[in-house]
Amino acid sequence: MALEAIKYNNGKLEVLDQTLLPVITRYIHVQGVEDGWKVINKMQVRGAPAIAMVGCLSLAVELKNDNYSEKSSVRREIEGKMNYLISARPTAVNIKIAAEQLIKLANKLYRDDSINVENMVSEILRSIDNMFKKDIDDNRAIGDFGADEILKNIVDNNLVRVLTHCNTGSLATTGYGTALGVVRSLHSRRKLEQVYCTETRPYNQGARLTAYELVHENIPGTLICDDMVAALMKSRKINAVIVGADRVAANGDTANKIGTYQIAILAKYHEVPFYVAAPRTSIDFDIIAGDKIPIEERPEREMTHLNDQRIAAKGIQCWNPAFDVTPADLITGIITEVGVINPKDLKQLVSTDQQ
Ligand code: MRU
Repeated sequence: MALEAIKYNNGKLEVLDQTLLPVITRYIHVQGVEDGWKVINKMQVRGAPAIAMVGCLSLAVELKNDNYSEKSSVRREIEGKMNYLISARPTAVNIKIAAEQLIKLANKLYRDDSINVENMVSEILRSIDNMFKKDIDDNRAIGDFGADEILKNIVDNNLVRVLTHCNTGSLATTGYGTALGVVRSLHSRRKLEQVYCTETRPYNQGARLTAYELVHENIPGTLICDDMVAALMKSRKINAVIVGADRVAANGDTANKIGTYQIAILAKYHEVPFYVAAPRTSIDFDIIAGDKIPIEERPEREMTHLNDQRIAAKGIQCWNPAFDVTPADLITGIITEVGVINPKDLKQLVSTDQQ
């Protein structure tokens, strides 16, 4: 059974508390937008697609369980609450794009006189439900395009060794995963020799979450510390690096978990192809270049403590950015649900309603 970060059924939302993994499996009952904001902000759920989905579903819980008599109040709720949810974590763009979609739909339904308030609410709920299903379909497509891309350079039917960073699997999405979806796809084709996953300090998404998913699914995985990447690339042939994205700028520069940038530099030096796997909802065409992407800074306690245990000298100052930006020049390709794109050519993905 695949791990389920998010469970939603008919107005009931539960989120797997990822701060307790891999030791304890406990779900949190999310009763509305206020709870949704908290679980996202505390990183009990994390990963750009999962953040967007939990935000939208926490709104769905309220829409499903409250009674509305006016279409104008439904429209106001959607706009106000989605804009509030975006503030829980500023770097991942998927929730902003989901918010824009829902607000646009709410405005359209509000203006349509043939639609009453009940129909308006059920249309919005249906749209959120579709986002959930689409995320899994997109991830499977990303997995297949990514596996094809990596295997096209492999001769003699050899197996591949890949490296990934942070967690981009079932726990970071509604299921299957993006970069980890590519790994899953390679494994299911029996083409994966080994996936190396970095520990991903300071929050340890690699050691706690990716390693957990790999063990859970019997995928051959090896954990390394973040400072072992150069040694790994020098001593063992790595066929590709595959990471996720929190926000891709229009010029292809990509914000992802802190440490991604240094891995990309090492990949360039060691001539290892470096791929970003992300759905089109991770691309922000409103941001022209990576230096304009807002980078979240997290509390220093996430660096100085492991659970309640202090591991850094008391009194030391800390800098704890949660993400960094990898320039497009270091990215071999962006693996999306519609194919692998050169980061410099993202414009071809702008859909007509975004132009
Ligand atoms: O801080 P996190 O754990 O939310 O960061 C997650 C990442 O950086 C992932 O690589 C990214 O969100 C893509 S998840 C499919």
